[in-house]
Amino acid sequence: MTSTRVVPSLQNHIPIVGDMGNQSPVAYKATRLMAGAVNLTQMALAEAYVNGLEIPDSIFRSLLHATMPALFQHAPGLLAPYEWVLQEADHLAESSKELMKVQYDLPQAMLNPMLGDWQVIYPKYSMGLWEHGAVSLEQSQMHMIDQVIERLGIKDGDHILDFGCGWGCVPNYILSKFPNVRMTGLNLSHQQCEYMRRKMEDPESYLSSGRFTLHEGDLNKADFAEKFDKILSVGVFCHVGNLTSAFQKLASFLKSDGKVLIHIITVRIPNNMSSGFTHKYIFPHGRYWNHDAIPSHNCDLKTIDRWYINGINYHKTLTAWLERFDASQESVKSLDYGMDYARFRRIWRFYLLLLGTIFATCDGEYNGNGQYLMTHS
Ligand SMILES: C[S@@+](CC[C@H](N)C(=O)[O-])C[C@H]1O[C@@H](n2cnc3c(N)ncnc32)[C@H](O)[C@@H]1O
Repeated sequence: MTSTRVVPSLQNHIPIVGDMGNQSPVAYKATRLMAGAVNLTQMALAEAYVNGLEIPDSIFRSLLHATMPALFQHAPGLLAPYEWVLQEADHLAESSKELMKVQYDLPQAMLNPMLGDWQVIYPKYSMGLWEHGAVSLEQSQMHMIDQVIERLGIKDGDHILDFGCGWGCVPNYILSKFPNVRMTGLNLSHQQCEYMRRKMEDPESYLSSGRFTLHEGDLNKADFAEKFDKILSVGVFCHVGNLTSAFQKLASFLKSDGKVLIHIITVRIPNNMSSGFTHKYIFPHGRYWNHDAIPSHNCDLKTIDRWYINGINYHKTLTAWLERFDASQESVKSLDYGMDYARFRRIWRFYLLLLGTIFATCDGEYNGNGQYLMTHS
């Protein structure tokens, strides 16, 4: 990684350079103003696209490859469009109900084919691991979960909590590998829970083995009678605004010798990042924690190991989703999105192109995924 080589004390007084937390009040205010201007520019482009401006995908991608490296390497403060991105929120997870409406409870007949729905790998809305030689989206998701199993040290007989379990893909795959593991899943999305309830009735599914328990509910209110050997959370902490209270909660669910593995989108810049477009249309209050944020919150849990997973893995995953989304137009165009389909399609193409490309900029070295192995502190 390259970094800005400016004398640290001088850097504190120069707007947009380095860590926002170290800036003098004047430099901080100037940076906030410029971040607002960058966000307005991005939003103007996004709204034009959503309203029908035709930009070929190749030009869209080239534009991002030309601008993002400069922002990541020299002006990361401009990637935080709102002040709340830089601070812990009041609640553990923010805007939960709105998030379900805008994103997770969308018609499943659109989401499921986009994410992929196979015999053991159910729709999985998180990074697939391609760097171990996967040749398909399905295989990349298997490799990703295999790595989680290895890093979390899952053993047969464990009772595991999946905090934000999606469609039950990770639980189903783990149950298929270990005959005596029990899994508990928590998810607020009613539609995703309905999918899992159907699988719990399906003899072909490991979710029907009697070893899977489902809780439909909010992370903010989560409470469990028993403690777990292992806890995993995959792709959920971009919706968590308060790491301190999240880790306090997770610690209260964990056995004294238990382990937690958090897998999240992460950025190797000094500050957290977000996007005005995704906040408005895709993930209300979604944020991408900087790569050091989790280890710097060693309160009730402490990080004992960490990994950065190159962004090319998520670039390939998002590119596969975009191809699958494009391929399913005929069957999904008449579903109810609460807006006309042409507009919905442009919002989603912008989202998949934007994120898919950003992960590939700087060879995936700035925006990728982080994994954090934690124990009681
Ligand atoms: C990006 S998806 C990842 C799902 C799953 N872990 C996977 O890898 O496929 C995030 C998940 O978190 C759930 N989620 C987000 N906010 C939540 C909240 N406040 N309470 C419970 N679940 C939540 C969503 O419904 C969704 O299933």
